[in-house]
Amino acid sequence: MAEQSKKWILMVTAQTPTNIAVIKYWGKRDENLILAINDSISVTLDPAHLCTTTTVAVSPSFQQDRMWLNKKEISLDGARYQNCLREIQARANDYEDEKKGIKISKNDWQNLHVHIDSYNNFPTAAGLASSAAGFACLVFSLAKLMNVQEDNGRLSAIARQGSGSACRSLFGGFVKWVMGKEEDGSDSIAVPLVDEKHWDELVIIIAVVSSRQKETSSTSGMRETVVTSALLEHRAKEVVPKRIIQMEEAIKNRDFPTFAQLTCSDSNQFHAVCMDTSPPIFYMNDTSHRVISCVEKWNRAEGTPQVAYTFDAGPNAVLIARNRKAAALMLQRLLFHFPPNSDTDLDSYVIGDKSILKDAGIQDLNDVEALPPPPEIKDKVPAQKCKGEISYFICTRPGRGPVLLPDESQALLCLETGLPK
Ligand code: DP6
Repeated sequence: MAEQSKKWILMVTAQTPTNIAVIKYWGKRDENLILAINDSISVTLDPAHLCTTTTVAVSPSFQQDRMWLNKKEISLDGARYQNCLREIQARANDYEDEKKGIKISKNDWQNLHVHIDSYNNFPTAAGLASSAAGFACLVFSLAKLMNVQEDNGRLSAIARQGSGSACRSLFGGFVKWVMGKEEDGSDSIAVPLVDEKHWDELVIIIAVVSSRQKETSSTSGMRETVVTSALLEHRAKEVVPKRIIQMEEAIKNRDFPTFAQLTCSDSNQFHAVCMDTSPPIFYMNDTSHRVISCVEKWNRAEGTPQVAYTFDAGPNAVLIARNRKAAALMLQRLLFHFPPNSDTDLDSYVIGDKSILKDAGIQDLNDVEALPPPPEIKDKVPAQKCKGEISYFICTRPGRGPVLLPDESQALLCLETGLPK
């Protein structure tokens, strides 16, 4: 290693997207390695609206491993962090930068302490898969820092050990997590199905549902389902394998009706196995159910699906519209049923790609007030609107995989001190 007196800091910054499963992962066959009981498929969301940025650094001057998440220092002691770090260090390679006087040999990496600073561009409390983007970004940035030569598929098997769903965030577009057969998990990896340009008509609207309740974490929820649900085995053995084949075909052919039918059915079945768990787990709430009913009624009235819905381990709805027109019509319906609280302005109520709002012909709260009831409910207009049940909407689309941010100004750690900027 270069002279210890030279207090150099070497750092890398990366940005990684989050993802939402359209065929769900629920249940592990190995808790430590995080191996799933079925394959799953997800769509990667545009990092412009939902992503994690992580800066990782090493220096002979660092006294201990440290991590900051959203500006607060957190512990790196957890087994999942340690597993990811160890797996990356084991694959590290020699690194040399003569100009800066940095020389790190393969075996030196494990003796150097790391500083990690990670930031989500969306509220962590919103319950939107932040661990997926977080672990994917940690593994991707550490791999680049330590000169690991493996491709994103191999890196996905490491991110998987941080959080199962994280492995699917190593790619853009639509991604399959192949459960694999090997006991060591070496074949349990993510594979890209199609990139984000393949089906770029799709628009995604996330309804962040106001909730006071603390939900059961995915990790403990799925553990309880594996132990107590009789339905889960049927789902993993009989239902999902067929759906995976059909879903891959639907994505390849941009067949929206099949895609929507499979996405909604799989979300509903995932919540059915949660209900079949003892004691039952309820992730969706009344607002989630109202969103489902609104989508179902409209799809039925149109004669063919315009929007698919899917819900993870929480009440938030992820709505995938077949194109911009359907997204604008969906947003009109959502704003009709779920207008913002009087203290909320439209600009903070619909965030992300605001052009969808423009397409919907909505410029201000007066336009929201003036929205007519959707034709499919005109005989049964609800007496009361569900004001305030939704915190905000995020409009987004399918997005790209991880990228390095080479510009020093985008780093979260200071190059002189190695501490958060
Ligand atoms: C409902 O990946 O968060 O979002 O592997 O225990 O960290 P761990 O669980 P996690 O579970 C995600 C479950 C899900 C479905 C999915 O993303 O496929």
